[in-house]
Amino acid sequence: MRTQVGIVGAGPAGLTLAQLLRAEGVESVVLEARSRDYVEHRIRAGVLEQGTVDTLVGAGAGERLRREGIVHHGIGLQFGGERHRVPLSQLTGGAAIVIYGQTEIVKDLIAIRLDAGDPLHFEVEDVAVHDVESDRPRITYVHEGRPQELECDLVAGCDGFHGVCREAIPAAVLTEFWREYPYGWLGVLAHAAPAHGEVVYCNTERGFALLSLRSPEVSRLYLQCRPDEDVGEWPDERIWEELEARVAVPGYTLNRGPIAEKGVTGMRSYVAEPMRHGRLFLAGDAAHIVPPTGAKGLNLAISDVTLLAEAIADWHRGGKAALLDAYSDACLRRVWRAEHFSWWMTSMLHRPPDADPFDLQLQQSQLRYVVQSEAQARSLAENYVGVAGAAALTAPGARTPA
Ligand code: APR
Ligand code: PHB
Repeated sequence: MRTQVGIVGAGPAGLTLAQLLRAEGVESVVLEARSRDYVEHRIRAGVLEQGTVDTLVGAGAGERLRREGIVHHGIGLQFGGERHRVPLSQLTGGAAIVIYGQTEIVKDLIAIRLDAGDPLHFEVEDVAVHDVESDRPRITYVHEGRPQELECDLVAGCDGFHGVCREAIPAAVLTEFWREYPYGWLGVLAHAAPAHGEVVYCNTERGFALLSLRSPEVSRLYLQCRPDEDVGEWPDERIWEELEARVAVPGYTLNRGPIAEKGVTGMRSYVAEPMRHGRLFLAGDAAHIVPPTGAKGLNLAISDVTLLAEAIADWHRGGKAALLDAYSDACLRRVWRAEHFSWWMTSMLHRPPDADPFDLQLQQSQLRYVVQSEAQARSLAENYVGVAGAAALTAPGARTPA
């Protein structure tokens, strides 16, 4: 079998790339290790930058997003028992964020692709990428019990942090950057009306908490815990009590309701450089991870594939490789802006396990400064809505295409 672009992974990066390429008249085959049901029910974050929304709408995947997405113009920042508001739109000349679950984006993109009859194979096994340094890369895999080989012009590694594509880059070429955090998030999806109008980040003596939402009827809530915390230690009643203890401010009560999902995720920062080797291009979590404080993971993945689709289309149209050659450097500028922002938000908002009193004072001072200084608040806002990330793509000092 042959295709123009072999895409490994049907998360938001792989599915969006396939859809963007289709709009440019470029063929692709998407290979996914898990089942359709599994990828459509994996609960992930739900804060979209305007640029992410624009890409999805432009790719023809925005119909339900435009109908059901909830536009927010600010976020809450709570510390010292007081809730403050960061007016995102006011501070960024009108930019906003849209609340719409990543899970819903994945469902929308899968439906569009299958309706169009384009190749998307679930439950493929033993995926391996070969000959990426040649001009005939191949992907081998097993589908429905039969070994398959897919010849491609290019391979897109969109297979997430635990995927196989990154391993096809020789260790001598790859540089990896890491930061592990002593925190996890216990995430809860509850059928309870969000009592807060906006996403609220809470720094408390009991640990971090986050109030978010998916719809007027569904709350998405998080509690800082240990990275190896056993979710079995958290019966629903304990979750509600702990949330109440952390998010309480005068005049605010949390709405309770049936908990539909709960799970613990660890937190890390990770970057692999370069994001391209020969004819293999990494995008999304395959190349970089951010801690979830700041909700940048999905937005970075969509930003990567937007650049990649443009570069591939340009190459297919005129054989020009300049954008493909510039891909890794361009992505990494934005990636590092998001790495810094996510690390900063994480450090400012969480309670370190053996908190040093000096560090705690620094945290409180930084939080007070953010809500007191317009310049500080604007910096947070620019990063949160994504204009700082977009600007990083063309920032002074950006390397120009080879
Ligand atoms: N072969 C095929 N598919 C694979 C393989 C493999 N060997 N390994 C992993 N996959 C699949 C996973 O099952 C998953 O569906 O690749 C997909 C990668 O999707 P995501 O992990 O969602 O990554 P990405 O598309 O880059 O999206 C980034 O997801 O993890 C969140 O916070 C992150 O929001 C961000 C977004
Ligand atoms: C979410 O709604 O799931 C969410 C919101 C903000 C974050 C992370 C996750 O920083």
